[in-house]
Amino acid sequence: MSRQFRAPRGTFDLVPPRGEAVLAVREALSGPVRRAAYGYVETPTFEETELFVRGVGESTDVVTKEMYSFVTRGGDEVTLRPEGTAPVLRAVLEQGLHRGALPVKLWYSASYFRYERPQKGRYRHFSQVGAEVVGSDDPAVDAETIVLAADAYRELGLTGVRLLLNSLGSNESRPAYRAALQDYLRGLDLDAETRQRVELNPMRVLDDKRPEIQAALEKAPVVADFLSAGDHAHHDTVRTLLTDAGIAYVDEPRLVRGLDYYTRTLFEFVHDGLGAQSAVGGGGRYDGLSELIGGPRLPGVGWALGVERTLLAMEAEGLPLPGVPHVDVYAVPLGDRAARRLFRVVTELRRGGVAADISTGGRGLKGAMKAADRSGAAYAVVVGERDLAAGLAQVKNLTTGDQVAVPLDALVADLHVRVLATVDA
Ligand code: HAM
Repeated sequence: MSRQFRAPRGTFDLVPPRGEAVLAVREALSGPVRRAAYGYVETPTFEETELFVRGVGESTDVVTKEMYSFVTRGGDEVTLRPEGTAPVLRAVLEQGLHRGALPVKLWYSASYFRYERPQKGRYRHFSQVGAEVVGSDDPAVDAETIVLAADAYRELGLTGVRLLLNSLGSNESRPAYRAALQDYLRGLDLDAETRQRVELNPMRVLDDKRPEIQAALEKAPVVADFLSAGDHAHHDTVRTLLTDAGIAYVDEPRLVRGLDYYTRTLFEFVHDGLGAQSAVGGGGRYDGLSELIGGPRLPGVGWALGVERTLLAMEAEGLPLPGVPHVDVYAVPLGDRAARRLFRVVTELRRGGVAADISTGGRGLKGAMKAADRSGAAYAVVVGERDLAAGLAQVKNLTTGDQVAVPLDALVADLHVRVLATVDA
C-alpha cells in the first residue's frame, strides 16, 4: 500500500465550515477599501527573486531566511511572493498606472509564502488582504488607509484590535538617526551576527525579539528625536485625522517592522488573544521603494491584513464563525419519479436565487430528514409516490414543525414567497 500524504509542514487545508469563514473574512476585510474606490489587482504568485531582495531588503529576515526561492528549468531565479507590496508596485510601474491619474489606489487578496518556524498564527503559506495607495505623499492617504483597515476589523465585530503608530522619518532625516543608533549599538555586548547587523542595517536590530536584546535596547535612541519638521507635520496630520475619524491609537516610538522599505508612517494592528503572533495586520509608508525597484520617485502607503490571524482573533473573542453556509430549502424525494421531479424543482429554485439542496442516493425518509435538519434549511420539501399521484408536495417548516400540502405546479413560486418571508422576518 502506498503511504498517505499530508499537507506540507506549516500549511493547512481549509475545509468547511472554516473554508467559508475564511472567504467571509476576506470579503469583510476588503469591504471598506472597495467602498472607497480602490481597484482590484492581481500579480503572479512568483516573481524574480531580485525584486524582493531589493524591495524588501537584503538584510531582512524575510529575504535572508524565509524566501521560497528556486531556479527554474530555464535558469530564472524566482521566489514565491513573501509579501505583496513590492509586486504590486512592480505591476504599477510595468503597467504604467503611475502615468495616469494619481494616486493609484489598489487592493488585493492572495496567498503568501514564508519559510518561518510554524506555530499558532504563523504559517508558511498564509493569506492577506492588502491595500496600496501609490503616487501621493499627502498624510490624508496614510490616515485613509488606516481608517479603512480599522473599519474592516470593526465590521467583523472585533473589539480587541489595538492600533500601534509610529513614524520612521523620511529618507532625508533617517541617516542621523541611523548613525546615533549605530553608535549606541556598538557599545553593547552583542554576538557576531548581530554586530554585523549593526553595521549593515542597525534598524533591523530593533526588531530582534530576543528578551536580552530587547532589554539592552531600552535606552537606545528613538527615531522620534530625529524627525525633521516636515516629518513631524506629516505625522501630526495623520494623528489628527485618525482622531477625527474616531480611531484610537497608541504611540509606539519603538515600533519597527520586518521590511526595509518603510519611511515616515508605520503602524501595526495587534490583538492580545493570539499569543506570540499578535500582529493581525500592519503597514506603512514606503516613499523610496519605487526607486529601489527601478522606478521614478513615487511615494506610497499601504497595509496588509492577515486573514488567518483575523479569524483567530474572532475566535479568541468568541465571535461566531462568519459565512457558514446554509440552504433555505432541502428536498426529500421518496422514489425515483419523485427524485426526477424534485431535481427540477431544486434546479429552478437555485436558478432563482434560493439556496437549495436535495437528498440523493435513494436515502430513506428518516435519514433524509436528519440531513435536512443538519443543512440548516428553513423548509423541507417531501414528495412520495402518493404525493406525486395527487400532484402535491409536503412543505415542512423545520423551525415550527408545521406542514402544508402545496400543489407541485406552484411549488417553486410558493417556496420563493416563503423563503423571502423568512429572510424579511
Ligand atoms: P507584514 O507585517 O509582513 O506586512 O504582514 C502583514 C500581516 O500578514 C501580518 O500582520 C500578519 O497578520 C500576516 N502574516 C505575516 N506573516 C504571516 C505568517 N507567516 N503566517 C500568518 N500570517 C502572517 C506586509 O506583508 C507588508 N507587505 C504590508 C504592507 C503593505 N506595507 C505596506 N503596504
